[in-house]
Amino acid sequence: MTGPVPWETAWQDALYGADGFYRGSAGPAGHFTTASHGPLGAVLAEALLTLAERHGLTRVVDVGAGRGELLSAMARAETDGRALLGVDVVERPVGLDVRIDWLEAPGGAALPDALRDLDGTLVVANEWLDVVPCPIAEVGDDGTLRTVLVDPATGEERLADPLGDADATWAATWWPPPDGGRRPGDRIEVGRTRDVAWADLLARLGSGIAVAIDYGHRRADRPRDGTLMAYRTGTPLPAGEALADADRNRRSTDLTAHVAVDSLAHDRLVRQRDALDELGVTGGHPPRALAGTEPRAYLDALQRASAIGELRRAGGLGDFWWVVVERFG
Ligand SMILES: C[S@@+](CC[C@H](N)C(=O)[O-])C[C@H]1O[C@@H](n2cnc3c(N)ncnc32)[C@H](O)[C@@H]1O
Repeated sequence: MTGPVPWETAWQDALYGADGFYRGSAGPAGHFTTASHGPLGAVLAEALLTLAERHGLTRVVDVGAGRGELLSAMARAETDGRALLGVDVVERPVGLDVRIDWLEAPGGAALPDALRDLDGTLVVANEWLDVVPCPIAEVGDDGTLRTVLVDPATGEERLADPLGDADATWAATWWPPPDGGRRPGDRIEVGRTRDVAWADLLARLGSGIAVAIDYGHRRADRPRDGTLMAYRTGTPLPAGEALADADRNRRSTDLTAHVAVDSLAHDRLVRQRDALDELGVTGGHPPRALAGTEPRAYLDALQRASAIGELRRAGGLGDFWWVVVERFG
């Protein structure tokens, strides 16, 4: 890719191009930890299975499944024979539990055609939408929101034309000027691409529940500078600089921006800690007496309590949003 291109294009290529970050063999878990991994994943799996059970859902689909970590935790906990399907941009991971089916996706906003007719299904997308690329816009000296171009080879940015009609309408509706108006240099991420990707996923759901879980903001608390950020081996870096380096050193750098959760179609928006409360995943220290009588069970219960604490933590995963859509009869 040569010369300046819209951020959305450079971002899509950096993550999902032939040498894209998410095509690497390490998978997301080789670079960072999410709520799907390890002891946290066991608790999240338990919570989501409870949700599926409460609504009589017989299938779970994980969109942006990484290498199947959350579904593997579900397979270990599952007793009702629910069908499990993972969707991600790579081939079926080697050694994945035979009870889990797999579909390969194009990546970003694009989903595979074979993902359809989802009935009686719980669809989960943990940290998918924040890696669906979107246009970046910045207020120019003339006060107009303009598309930001970036040169992948150098990371240099420049402002181009004013946003097109659909993006400008999205910005006016969902990311309106803050008190005192927009200032030159203010940035926004146009979440329309996420809205469209989510709507496409929902269009495939005949009956059941869809839950997108992600970090995000609502209209009243949008940041002034946007949130586009790069991460390399867990270290945050300015996106342009990281992109230029990633262009030389492929598969090294993640690019992500928080999700405008309220512009996504939803029936409910719930903080993760509240969602876990509703599902009865509330934690608490195990009784100390258990340590003497059943030390193994005590250690397991301690690990579970600590994972629940992490998933509920204010300023951390507890602040994540569950964007919930319910489709019944
Ligand atoms: C931040 S990682 C989260 C992985 C996993 N859900 C977790 O919680 O650890 C985002 C994942 O979404 C995947 N992804 C991106 N676009 C996708 C698409 N259109 N369909 C399926 N997976 C996608 C990426 O390849 C990556 O594995």
